[in-house]
Amino acid sequence: MFKILLLFTCMCVGTSDAVLYDCFTGEPVNRTLLRIYEQRNVVANCTVEIDPCDPTEWRRVDGSCNNLKHPSRGTQRTPSFRVLSPVFSHDYEPRKAVSGASLPLPRRLRTDLLLMGSTTDMKLTQLFSYYVLFMISDVLSSHDIINYLQNITTCCTPEGQNNYNCIPIRVPVDDPVHRYSGVHCLNLTRPQTFQTYKCLDNGTTFARIVFQTPVFDLSHIYEYRPGFINRLRTFENGMMKIEEEDGELFPPSDPNSTYCFQNQPPKETRCHMYQVNNVLGSNIWIILMYRHHNQIARELHRLNPCWDDERLFYTARDINMAISVQIYFYELLPIIFGKKNMIRTGLIGRGGGFRDLYDENIEPRMSDEYFYGMRWFHMLQKTSMKLYDKDGYYIKTYPMVNVTARTGFFAVDNNMQHIIQGSFRQLGGSIDWTIDYDMADRLLGAILFSSDATTSDLKKGRYFGMQPYVNYKEFCTNRKYNTFDDLKDSFSQERLHRLMKVYKDPKDIELMAALWLEKPVKGGRIPETLYCLLTEQYRRSIKSDRHWYERPNRPHAFTEEQLRAIRKVTIAGMLCSIGDFVTEIQPHAFFAISRSNPLTKCSSSRIGKLDLTPWKVSD
Ligand SMILES: *[C@@H]1O[C@H](CO)[C@@H](O)[C@H](O)[C@H]1NC(C)=O
Ligand SMILES: *[C@@H]1O[C@H](CO)[C@@H](O)[C@H](O)[C@H]1NC(C)=O
Ligand SMILES: *[C@@H]1O[C@H](CO)[C@@H](O)[C@H](O)[C@H]1NC(C)=O
Ligand SMILES: *[C@@H]1O[C@H](CO)[C@@H](O)[C@H](O)[C@H]1NC(C)=O
Ligand SMILES: *[C@@H]1O[C@H](CO)[C@@H](O)[C@H](O)[C@H]1NC(C)=O
Ligand SMILES: *[C@@H]1O[C@H](CO)[C@@H](O)[C@H](O)[C@H]1NC(C)=O
Ligand SMILES: *[C@@H]1O[C@H](CO)[C@@H](O)[C@H](O)[C@H]1NC(C)=O
Repeated sequence: MFKILLLFTCMCVGTSDAVLYDCFTGEPVNRTLLRIYEQRNVVANCTVEIDPCDPTEWRRVDGSCNNLKHPSRGTQRTPSFRVLSPVFSHDYEPRKAVSGASLPLPRRLRTDLLLMGSTTDMKLTQLFSYYVLFMISDVLSSHDIINYLQNITTCCTPEGQNNYNCIPIRVPVDDPVHRYSGVHCLNLTRPQTFQTYKCLDNGTTFARIVFQTPVFDLSHIYEYRPGFINRLRTFENGMMKIEEEDGELFPPSDPNSTYCFQNQPPKETRCHMYQVNNVLGSNIWIILMYRHHNQIARELHRLNPCWDDERLFYTARDINMAISVQIYFYELLPIIFGKKNMIRTGLIGRGGGFRDLYDENIEPRMSDEYFYGMRWFHMLQKTSMKLYDKDGYYIKTYPMVNVTARTGFFAVDNNMQHIIQGSFRQLGGSIDWTIDYDMADRLLGAILFSSDATTSDLKKGRYFGMQPYVNYKEFCTNRKYNTFDDLKDSFSQERLHRLMKVYKDPKDIELMAALWLEKPVKGGRIPETLYCLLTEQYRRSIKSDRHWYERPNRPHAFTEEQLRAIRKVTIAGMLCSIGDFVTEIQPHAFFAISRSNPLTKCSSSRIGKLDLTPWKVSD
């Protein structure tokens, strides 16, 4: 089978070696399709050109050649996987209630179902939520937000009423907050699809478009767009270009960029030229992991002075990617999934050795349910951010939403330093049914007068065509849920009562609304159905990724000692080595400082730092 495919690929090659693939189908583009795309002027948006795969090469920066049978799967614009196929009423409009009426207004549901306020988790630090944001922005692009912030800004005006792409949120007149503000409408645009980009005809099945590689590969650090990595590399000793401002190191800046909406010039001018300038938690880790690459490359060069730039660069990148995933799967996720659950479902290994679950028949893709489910984490974001100095003294509290799309902020007044110190000292928001004030009404800070994360989440679910909650529940448990009574084990009495007040039929209940209120999975801390949908994705992520870092026989695989060194690294060790002036930290930095998890000197062996000596080649 493999050989035949290779032959087929070769036939299409023609004069150049590269092959043009259709992003949506993942097949080589034939003449007919190419002509259609040319007529529509969308060749660049709907196809991806791929050089022949070499099964022994490193993971490519653009994500191609991960699956040797389907080389374009794993690149940007790989279509999402669907756990359950999308449902709509007609023409991609939201499904109706069982009664035939429209589902209730999303903003009304949000204010009826959730409590509002600032709550504190006594166990977890802010760092926890920052790292979750960082990991989601590796696979999810923010093009839909940019779309209504920059391209379509009239959704709440009469002009917007005639714009197909506008799906503004209606605010009820008796809204608990906005009856005082005069706001009747919140901006929102329709999710962008392969149809939006004219890669598919209108009227064909909903297919969301995403501009990140659908694998955990730090594509938000190394930049997935073809050729862009060459702009980031110095081509010397494996290093990436880095700039210093006020004594701290940052990825290259484009002061003319229009994406740092909240920068306060003239003081704040920094704005990443290539990386996304997004929410605070993610942005801070983009800066840190970017720095980390150079630190690794420098040390590898010291250990192996003979290695050339190429080898140093790809080895450093490989180590950086592996560490980001190791921390996520082995340190962060067990806190909320339950370690035993994760071992049972194969998300993590029991011993410390290699694992190989690769299955070439599974394509690297992320599910829409994953992207959507991750929005649930809005619920535990605490937005009043505490800043501390390097000696641990409290400085001030600052609203986190004011730092969205504001990379310039990190480079002034030692803010980067102070936010990092705060990230492991401050407790995070708790996992409950309370939504933080700023998440609920001021999500985008000063960029928009008002925006509500959770209402947008609910509304977007309708436009993603998410099936009713009970269908997902059935997928997860193999049981049927026909009546509200069938759901009584999944919700507390009060919460089920709230759902019954707003939804007439169990089949009306929307996925996100249920996730807000559902009981946690046994042994873990996140809602049962969310746990199920995220686990479904992570299993496929591990099985479909030929370059998964735990595999013994992937190209340039780690040795046993190297993998052991990767597994030793903790989030605390990372902050010790790349956080500005972090000299002491608690060993388990996603957990609060406590008697059993006390501040500890970075030099202590209790802090899991990266030791690169296993990479020293003795020859
Ligand atoms: C060309 O590709 C399109 C889309 O993949 C397919 O539907 C069509 O049948 C192909 N045409 C020919 C002549 O192979
Ligand atoms: C892709 O589509 C967008 C939106 O339609 C357009 O602005 C952009 O120019 C296109 N990009 C390319 C490379 O064709
Ligand atoms: C916004 O418009 C610009 C210019 O027309 C286009 O290049 C870009 O792709 C658009 N962005 C989105 C998210 O549609
Ligand atoms: C689909 O509909 C949109 C909006 O009406 C239009 O701009 C676009 O050209 C259509 N796409 C195709 C492929 O016909
Ligand atoms: C920013 O814009 C100014 C004025 O247009 C230009 O001179 C400068 O080269 C631009 N800088 C970058 C990094 O593009
Ligand atoms: C945060 O932004 C709001 C506007 O959305 C502004 O009123 C407030 O003063 C800002 N807070 C700080 C500390 O800058
Ligand atoms: C919606 O967007 C427009 C244009 O950016 C803005 O003027 C308006 O204040 C926004 N509405 C809200 C409620 O934020």
